[in-house]
Amino acid sequence: MTTTLAFDVYGTLIDTHGIAAALQPRLGPRAADFSRAWRDKQLEYSFRRGLMRRYETFAVCTRQALDHTCAQFGLPLDPTEREGLMDAYQTLPAFQDAREGLVQAREAGFRLFAFSNGPAEAVGPLLAQAGLRDFFVDVVSVDEVQSFKPDPGVYAHFLRRAGVPARGAWLISSNPFDVIGALSAGLPAAWVRRSPAALFDPWGLEPTLTVESLSGLAARIRP
Ligand code: LAC
Repeated sequence: MTTTLAFDVYGTLIDTHGIAAALQPRLGPRAADFSRAWRDKQLEYSFRRGLMRRYETFAVCTRQALDHTCAQFGLPLDPTEREGLMDAYQTLPAFQDAREGLVQAREAGFRLFAFSNGPAEAVGPLLAQAGLRDFFVDVVSVDEVQSFKPDPGVYAHFLRRAGVPARGAWLISSNPFDVIGALSAGLPAAWVRRSPAALFDPWGLEPTLTVESLSGLAARIRP
């Protein structure tokens, strides 16, 4: 059976901190801190909504996290500026190693899927503008089951949509919560640790594989 790879999108293929460039004019040297706070709050909202069963799309989590972060940084945005930043979220850049890693994975014969908290109607165009959409058989979104990572139900949904058993698919992610979620759901998982400063949670679970780049990943995955 051909091994399937489920690539996380935001933070793994797409650099969410690419938004700092759009923040620079208003925030200057605080743009990077704002970007991190915004991403952390976005994920926090997805976790809380998943646990509360109060689902809204990842775009709503992103928008509400932006509003919270603006208040936190004392940055009043008018509706036009806010929409501009939300639009910029749809044109975030791919990581430098993403394309090469996907070419290697395709040439190695793996089936590639994008697997994201974002709705497919947002993630598809996001990957397309980054030049990555055509690598994937499909985009699988947690939106289809109205929950968020790391709910075990979203990994089960991925397996159903990809038509594979848990041992037939790997999760590829830079997000430790996603790697632990997949491991807990029975999938092997590769952690993409691009920075030596990135920490894995001390939960007693270890990634099946840890790599520093998507480039070279395919050669290290044992089907
Ligand atoms: C994604 C974010 C959560 O699912 O990394 O793409």
